[in-house]
Amino acid sequence: MKIVCIGGGPAGLYFALLMKKLGAHHDITVVERNKPYDTFGWGVVFSDQTLDNMRQWDPETAAEVQQAFNHWDDIELHFKDRVIRSGGHGFVGIGRKKLLNILQARCEQLGVQLVFEQDADSDLDYPDADLIIASDGINSKVRNRTPEVFQPDIVTRPNRYIWLGTKKLYDAFTFLFEKTEHGWFQAHVYKFDEHTSTFIVECPERVWLAHGLDQADPQQSIEFCEQLFAKNLQGEKLMTNARHLRGSAWLNFQRVKCAHWWHHNGHSHVVLMGDAVHTAHFAIGSGTKLALEDAIELVRQFKRVGDRSEHIPEVLRQYQAVREIDVIRLQNAAWNAMEWFEVCGERYCDQLEPEQFMYSMLTRSQRISHENLRLRDKAWLEGYEAWYAARHGVPATAKVLPPPMFTPYTLRSVTLKNRVVVSPMAQYSAQDGHVGDYHLVHLGARAMGGAGLVMVEMTAPSADGRITPGCPGLWNEAQTQDFARLTDWVHTHSDAKIGLQIGHAGPKGSTCRPWQGAGMDEALPAGEAEANWPLIAASAQPYLPHGQVPRAMTRADMDRVLDDFVAATRRAAQAGFDWLELHCAHGYLLSSFISPLTNHRDDDYGGTLDKRLRYPLEVFAAVRAAWPEHLPMSVRISAHDWVEGGITPADAVEIARAFKAAGADMIDCSSGQVSAQQKPSYGRMYQTPFADRIRQEAGIATIAVGAISEADHVNSILAAGRADLCAVARPHLANPAWTLTEAARIGYTALAWPRPYVSGKSQLEAGFARERALQTATRGD
Ligand SMILES: Cc1cc2nc3c(=O)[nH]c(=O)nc-3n(C[C@H](O)[C@H](O)[C@H](O)COP(=O)(O)OP(=O)(O)OC[C@H]3O[C@@H](n4cnc5c(N)ncnc54)[C@H](O)[C@@H]3O)c2cc1C
Ligand SMILES: Cc1cc2nc3c(=O)[nH]c(=O)nc-3n(C[C@H](O)[C@H](O)[C@H](O)COP(=O)(O)O)c2cc1C
Repeated sequence: MKIVCIGGGPAGLYFALLMKKLGAHHDITVVERNKPYDTFGWGVVFSDQTLDNMRQWDPETAAEVQQAFNHWDDIELHFKDRVIRSGGHGFVGIGRKKLLNILQARCEQLGVQLVFEQDADSDLDYPDADLIIASDGINSKVRNRTPEVFQPDIVTRPNRYIWLGTKKLYDAFTFLFEKTEHGWFQAHVYKFDEHTSTFIVECPERVWLAHGLDQADPQQSIEFCEQLFAKNLQGEKLMTNARHLRGSAWLNFQRVKCAHWWHHNGHSHVVLMGDAVHTAHFAIGSGTKLALEDAIELVRQFKRVGDRSEHIPEVLRQYQAVREIDVIRLQNAAWNAMEWFEVCGERYCDQLEPEQFMYSMLTRSQRISHENLRLRDKAWLEGYEAWYAARHGVPATAKVLPPPMFTPYTLRSVTLKNRVVVSPMAQYSAQDGHVGDYHLVHLGARAMGGAGLVMVEMTAPSADGRITPGCPGLWNEAQTQDFARLTDWVHTHSDAKIGLQIGHAGPKGSTCRPWQGAGMDEALPAGEAEANWPLIAASAQPYLPHGQVPRAMTRADMDRVLDDFVAATRRAAQAGFDWLELHCAHGYLLSSFISPLTNHRDDDYGGTLDKRLRYPLEVFAAVRAAWPEHLPMSVRISAHDWVEGGITPADAVEIARAFKAAGADMIDCSSGQVSAQQKPSYGRMYQTPFADRIRQEAGIATIAVGAISEADHVNSILAAGRADLCAVARPHLANPAWTLTEAARIGYTALAWPRPYVSGKSQLEAGFARERALQTATRGD
């Protein structure tokens, strides 16, 4: 085959040499516009794992890289006059020039033709090639020539960065943070050869503009950075080798991804590789890894399918299918890490203490969890756990230091024994609003299951406030007594606290139980034993297009519902609940006021967010006044409607601020279910970013909820300060003793079990201990 690689970066060169190794008869040319050894940038890093991968494909190159690389394990943070270091992270740093030299030399040795100082205008310049590799980097001309084919999706990110070098040598991957009168800057620094370190400086656009850096030439920018980091640089200079960049040398990162990676241009097959097809932000330092692994995968497919020209279409199909999955995973992690650096100045630097800031930074990609950190650096993590425990009321003299999940939490007069909440879950099993034996068994079992707080499902202040005829209510004395029996039982037989979620279904009321009839949110049929009842909402808009149209509430309706909420609150206090949550989420009555998707009023209760919040805040204030002063109150909100034009996470911060000002203690951060048009992005802990943002920006305690399914998730969230409590719903349906089980799984044995159950404890713990020992043995550590 005749193959032309346009672009002699890591992707083009590595592919060329591996392909030549696969078949020496292939005629392979790499066309590069620069001179040999003439490149921008300083060092690049990749993980030990990438080098292992290279070793399998070309031991010669890997050996050369290994000779030239700088390996280090530690990450060091310099923040607010503190230096914090943790180990076990395993990176390889190498000069970009050095890496390219190694690849170029190996190409020449194997017989790849290298053509320098040739700027390829287009893939059409090489009509006799069977295959053209478009490895021409982020601004790929080949990709840009036919955007309709490759469908690139390019997002320009808000931060500015400048890629510098220094002769000061750092023996860890070092992060420096400095605050100026306009905001925070950070530097990502690592040594890549015996004499030089890469020094990337980054800040938000706003801060960059405020310092006039848009007007600065490269030399002025360097002087600015030298001054900013003078304390650390201790007289060392910063250097640039990007003098070819006109104007300011500060760039914005561009995230590239493409729907299609290859096509036939009429003469040759063309395939994108490396930065031309996808980029990964330097926050996790993996652009070079992606480029090298693309090259490996394409060669693997030629080896597997066959390396004659008729095999090309199948090879390219397989290449994209296989690579795409890994690339998405890596781009997601890089995206999280990048966002962390974009918002850290506003969200974390001023809010978190250095210890927690370090933890948050280390877990920024959300790929590294609490237990991963333990594997990397046990001593550091245990030190951090001790710090967290001490900060949260565990005396340093305690015999066993609990991980974050098992530290107590106190709000007003209530102390939860740990930070797990059984999230409210509708059971649709009440009769005329009465809870009965079903609820006693259901909630009793969960109270015995180890969670610190058990929340009762959404309970209506009036009969017409129920979601279904099976939902509980608190509008009469008998219902109060039913609940009192329940709370008594929980207080007598467990050390869990029990809370009530109070909410009015509004436009989503009068529906069937989910397992009955047409399914979730479907209206009750009219005229049957459990007949449909009229609905009220902020506006006359049904939840489902074919659903019952609610009546827009009048002021008289508002007064009536407010009185019902207050009366139900008094009953909840009388029934002995420890905690009250006002349900302002999921499209129910109060939520229908908050979201612009459901509130179309033109009076004082519609329009701007302030006005849309007016009625929910009025209800909150009245309920708070009726609820005993010494008991806590949380508010559940939908922090994201997942619909264009709906509530955004930024709005959620404003909503949280408003409830905080009205006296709320905590925001329970759920999302969605406000509009049937929603398009949520589900995934592990997918709503936790909302809890994190609200906690830092609105300065109020938060509950994280949603796809939190392991102790490791809970510990990671709490330890990073992303929330104060974690609510767990569906896992508690499968296992009422979820908390007891998870404690045993992670080897935390200091948790008290209900006395009658104690003989099950050591058996469960021994089983998990065996599993952990087996895993350790398999890992070989
Ligand atoms: C500030 C910064 C820090 C980074 N840090 C890291 C890091 O620590 N670790 C890491 O793994 N990655 C890092 N990267 C990313 C890394 O540099 C790229 O992801 C990687 O080099 C991609 O390799 P590539 O071969 O696809 O593209 P490139 O390395 O960009 O190579 C493309 C080549 O094509 C040539 N070319 C372009 N157009 C033409 C044309 N028309 N004709 C001929 N030649 C052409 C260019 O001159 C260039 O040599 C960083 C990037 C930046 C911006
Ligand atoms: C069966 C069921 C019933 C639910 N009922 C309620 C409810 O009454 N009030 C509420 O705010 N959320 C309710 N939810 C949402 C959960 O509290 C929780 O936010 C959601 O399930 C995400 O958490 P998970 O991933 O741990 O399940 C319910 C969820 C389930 C599965």
